[in-house]
Amino acid sequence: MSIKILAIESSCDETSAAILDNEKILSNVISSQYFHKEYGGIVPELASRAHVTTIEKITSEAFRLAGIATHEIELTAASQGPGLIGSLLVGLNFAKGFALSHNIPFEGIDHIESHLYSSFIGKRDVEFPFIALVVSGGHTILFLAESENSSKVLGTTQDDAAGEAFDKVAKMLGLEYPGGPLIDKLAREGNSDYHKFPVSNIKDSPYDFSFSGIKTSVLYYLKKNYPAGLKGKALNDVAASFQKAVVSSLVDKTIKAAKDLNIKRISVSGGVSANSALRESFIKYEREGYTISFPEKIYSTDNAAMIGYTAYLKYRNNPAAIRPAALLEGAYARFRYNN
Ligand code: KG4
Ligand code: ZN
Repeated sequence: MSIKILAIESSCDETSAAILDNEKILSNVISSQYFHKEYGGIVPELASRAHVTTIEKITSEAFRLAGIATHEIELTAASQGPGLIGSLLVGLNFAKGFALSHNIPFEGIDHIESHLYSSFIGKRDVEFPFIALVVSGGHTILFLAESENSSKVLGTTQDDAAGEAFDKVAKMLGLEYPGGPLIDKLAREGNSDYHKFPVSNIKDSPYDFSFSGIKTSVLYYLKKNYPAGLKGKALNDVAASFQKAVVSSLVDKTIKAAKDLNIKRISVSGGVSANSALRESFIKYEREGYTISFPEKIYSTDNAAMIGYTAYLKYRNNPAAIRPAALLEGAYARFRYNN
């Protein structure tokens, strides 16, 4: 059984196209919309327009790099949400149009679910059950992944996502958007014990997260101690201290869930999973017999390879469930988060 897949991701500010031969990634082209930096965050209408102008070029490049022709594709897939609706529509309609014109099936893929599987791309096969922490700019969700069709939400953020907290604190520190990678870089030269920033816990919800309090505490700390702004070593130290607090919360809750449910396999994915301190903290648990999977860094932030990989897993699990594109009426989600 072999299937060639064209996958598209356009849920936020990355336009991406990937071509797969079964689980193997033949190409994965990503175009990031850096122009949002000047607005300090993503402007949805500009994001959609940029997807419209880029998607065809990105897809042609994916075909060129994969070295295959359009008629060889047997299945198309696209991110169908969550995400910016205007942005999603560009990728969804492009992929559906391709499917209709080639008379092949189309599969809408849940963006979060695809992050959840991204840590297995190019590595070992997915083995259930596992605990999955999906931590990105828009989401911080802890799952119990039971099968290709069932993932239970154990906990989620009650306010800001972890990546959002990184981006907002980075802004306070005078850094560009997205600030997560910049904080990560500054923190490498900083003392993470310089200041203890508190991270809230949610009463009676041990697996839920909250990151809006830490954002406020960084704001007040800076106002009080560095009213003229932060520079030099203090900038590294504050970045490292903030990062330590967020990382501890993410790691502690994930490990608690794994211990409580007696599951030794853990997957950590999404944009924030690129964070070096987060990776180091999780890796330490391998000594205690945990298997920790991270995506390769290129698959941590939004990319189409993870969409194609998830479509492949669904096809492998149940080929008959993949329907001809002509039968589709709008986006639909077969995958549901059951709380
Ligand atoms: O998964 P992603 O590309 O988009 C969403 O689905 O949200 O994640 C983007 C988020 C941004 O908030 C960005 O600051 C954060 O991931 N991020 C990081 C790092 N690299 C990306 N946060 C901390 N450390 C990093 N190295
Ligand atoms: Zn994402």
